[in-house]
Amino acid sequence: MEDKTVICRCEDVTLEEIRTLIQEGFQTIDEIKRMCRCGMGPCQGRTCRAVVSQEISRATGLPLNEVKGPTFRQPIKPVKLGAFLGGDDDGK
Ligand code: FES
Repeated sequence: MEDKTVICRCEDVTLEEIRTLIQEGFQTIDEIKRMCRCGMGPCQGRTCRAVVSQEISRATGLPLNEVKGPTFRQPIKPVKLGAFLGGDDDGK
């Protein structure tokens, strides 16, 4: 992939930005997320998280399964606000 490839479409983060952060010492998903918002968009990292993990693995030599994953907070999947207000009837 080229440096200008957009890795996080939600937050418009390029591979170059990810590589720079890794070189600066930010080598976990959460650290990179905090620095550039990669993974904090509407898809919550479903699109970009795997690519960032692969890049951390490639740059550090750490096996992919040893790259520290992100911290998940509830809810872990999208929930309509109506579910919190009065059940799961979508507020209708
Ligand atoms: S593509 Fe990165 S948060 Fe959606």
